[in-house]
Amino acid sequence: MTKIMLNGNKKLTGDVSISGMKNNAVAILPGAILTNEEITIDNIPDISDIKDIINILKHLNVSVERKNSTLKINSKNIKNTQIPKEYSSKLRASYYFMGALLARYKEVSIYFPGGCNLGDRPIDQHIKGFEALGATVTIDNDLYTIKAKKLNGAYVYLDMASVGATINIIYAAVLAKGKTVIENAAKEPEVVNIATMLNTMGAKISGAGTNVIKIEGVKKLNGCYHEVLPDRIEAGTYMIIAALLGNNIKIKGIIPEHVEALTLKFKEAGIHIVVKDNYCVISKPNRLKPLKIKTMVFPGFVTDLQQPITPLLTQCEGESIVEETIYEDRFRNIPYLNKMGANIVVKKPKAYIKGKTKLIGKEVIATDLRAGISLVIAGLIAKGTTTILEADHILRGYEKLEEKLTKLGAEIRVE
Ligand code: EPU
Repeated sequence: MTKIMLNGNKKLTGDVSISGMKNNAVAILPGAILTNEEITIDNIPDISDIKDIINILKHLNVSVERKNSTLKINSKNIKNTQIPKEYSSKLRASYYFMGALLARYKEVSIYFPGGCNLGDRPIDQHIKGFEALGATVTIDNDLYTIKAKKLNGAYVYLDMASVGATINIIYAAVLAKGKTVIENAAKEPEVVNIATMLNTMGAKISGAGTNVIKIEGVKKLNGCYHEVLPDRIEAGTYMIIAALLGNNIKIKGIIPEHVEALTLKFKEAGIHIVVKDNYCVISKPNRLKPLKIKTMVFPGFVTDLQQPITPLLTQCEGESIVEETIYEDRFRNIPYLNKMGANIVVKKPKAYIKGKTKLIGKEVIATDLRAGISLVIAGLIAKGTTTILEADHILRGYEKLEEKLTKLGAEIRVE
């Protein structure tokens, strides 16, 4: 079990470089099996979710070579279409093998994906899309068997703009016969990035980044070189840390449009931020004004930064409110923030945060990835020592966390 120990309340300064985006990288790698040719993907973060995806590729007999942040993937000898529970339950993104293996083999059997426990996380929209394309899906306890004699283009309307369902249906449709239209598609940058990769491979996808995506099926896809986007959630996390403790912290390698919802909230709170082409500079202001935050699909305020920004809201003068509209149970950090001295009342889907409160280091538990990083941020501003148990969750999504924070001047140890 991994443990993180922090000695809080240090002034931070210097710069930090943002790594490749977890949620983009974990979705891209299953897509590499859509061709027999070699795929080279750059800017892959070194995090445990990537190791888990690589383990699934290896289980399928796909060759994967890693050199620093570059992966070369060749699936010409792929021979398996079954993914056992011990692989699929490691992470949410294992579900991308549904669409990718279905496209390639017209057959896949896989157990329900794992991932953070954020309340009910159904995959009914993915299944609806596969069925629309002509697949039959049987579910036996947690085992999903998806088969098709032939996949044909279809109209799919998503009940909610799901990132996972949009990408999975694109994967299933890209080699199908005819045209697929996904209405109410997700517009997140990671969807656009994946459509760009597939188009480089020879796919015919238009509309990615809008809510109507059209896919004209092609017979075959080729190899390509592709780069993962910078992680907008990691960028947002360091921006929050800089706003709480920073003296001119430079956050490098960002795409400013991807963090704009956060930047605008910072301006409302009175945080001075200088934004340039691919970096921003942030310092702690004298005083923070309270905020009202409502999580939304892109380009709204992203749910993955809702828990990380909550420690900042404990330092605002007055009452802040966060409303979580994407996941029903994404408040598991709150009891621990309250243990550390915060004054937060949860009435789902909202949390009411009364500030400003002093935080004190305590022993807390990382119940999931973003809840965990929220406790790291709280520990950084708290007086005394914070010990975060079950910190493996945090290392699933943050590359070189200890190294990056230590370089900024934080006292952190990962054991
Ligand atoms: N939903 C359904 N049915 C579906 C699919 C989604 O009801 O078939 C619901 C979900 O229950 C949720 C909402 O729709 O309430 C959003 O789901 P979405 O499919 O967009 O999310 P996801 O694919 O489950 C990905 C990321 C999440 C991130 C969301 C939103 C991965 C592996 N996960 O999840 O990342 O919060 O998109 O941007 O890419 C994280 O990194 O901490 C994380 C949870």
